[in-house]
Amino acid sequence: MTAAGAAGVPDDVLLQVRGLEVHFPIRSGILLDRTVGHVRAVDGVDLAVRRGTTFGLVGESGCGKSTLGRAVLRLVEPTGGTVLFDGVDMTSLKKEQLRRARKRMQMVFQDPMSSLDPRQDVESLLVEPMQAHELAGGPKAWRARVRELLDLVGLPAASASKYPHEFSGGQRQRIGIARAIALEPELVIADEPVSALDVSVQAQVVNLLEELQDRLGLTYLVIAHDLAVVRHISDEIGVMYLGSLVEHADSDELYDNPLHPYTISLMSAIPVPDPDVEDARERILLAGDLPSPAAPPPGCRFHTRCPFRQPTRCHDEVPLLRELAPRHTVACHWAEDVRDGRITAAASSHDPTSAGDVVDQTTLP
Ligand SMILES: Nc1ncnc2c1ncn2[C@@H]1O[C@H](COP(=O)(O)OP(=O)(O)OP(=O)(O)O)[C@@H](O)[C@H]1O
Ligand code: SF4
Ligand SMILES: [Mg+2]
Repeated sequence: MTAAGAAGVPDDVLLQVRGLEVHFPIRSGILLDRTVGHVRAVDGVDLAVRRGTTFGLVGESGCGKSTLGRAVLRLVEPTGGTVLFDGVDMTSLKKEQLRRARKRMQMVFQDPMSSLDPRQDVESLLVEPMQAHELAGGPKAWRARVRELLDLVGLPAASASKYPHEFSGGQRQRIGIARAIALEPELVIADEPVSALDVSVQAQVVNLLEELQDRLGLTYLVIAHDLAVVRHISDEIGVMYLGSLVEHADSDELYDNPLHPYTISLMSAIPVPDPDVEDARERILLAGDLPSPAAPPPGCRFHTRCPFRQPTRCHDEVPLLRELAPRHTVACHWAEDVRDGRITAAASSHDPTSAGDVVDQTTLP
């Protein structure tokens, strides 16, 4: 067991998120500006990212992944909960303390074209964070650091005098990564770092992130909507649905043994390279779109789309995350029955009125 340090956080944990909530107010009225509701973008998330490892956060568009990443850095203010970075509560830091803490945690964005100022050359893009944080050594040392950074991300030294538009998408993301590691951070939050890139380039950028992790001892929170992307890079994975984590496990365990109906559905959509296996396997199609986080369904938030939904508990009782196997937690009332085949997916999950079938136990071996 790992010893607990400050604020009860185990020593091997760099980032601990507890009960994190981000609720955006919905305003209405021109003369009388009133708050008429809240978008519950992140609604009570607990997670821990261990030092030197990668935590992959997946879920479909709009489930709150980016908001969670931004709330960790306090780029958006959390409504509730705590974010402990190296044992220090980020949510309690004042302006100057926050600025110093942010030097140790950086973000890589999805679209490097919009995150890099097109009017600045690469040298000035990379020097900018060093200048802002008054890195020791001054301009001469900063320029030397630019060469070092370019080398680390696999770009030629001559790139320093070029502008973002002179690079390909993959090269621009390398510049985005160089900028993120310029201040030698400990934590990098990469929000969809490869989803804007061609498939052929995605693997190169993922490999670069892994190489940098090995060389620099970085800790990553990698956000993606694509399970296939996070599998490659993650040590553990959290699956998010409508503002909450519904499953969490080590990466291999999650892929070999998905327990939550949402994860099972996502997994069934990943193509398998073997054509025989691909033809034989069952694909579970989810009915409908993600419900609005302004009015999440009661009970299990997934019940409006769940192919395994049952007539009791699903629609009126919130399932809590429970540990079903070592280091494997799942928020589903019926996870054991789904796992053991006592409940199977409804024949057509397109039909929102159809629920999961209970298998007659007498027919099971
Ligand atoms: N500043 C904001 N004000 C109001 N609502 C917001 C704001 N930012 C995000 N939201 C809403 O919060 C929810 C979660 O958004 P978020 O961008 O975190 O999702 P996401 O999982 O990153 O999606 P994607 O995969 O499309 O990037 C969405 O319903 C979104 O419309
Ligand atoms: S609790 Fe019910 S609706 Fe929710 S995931 Fe489990 S079976 Fe589906
Ligand atoms: Mg996002």
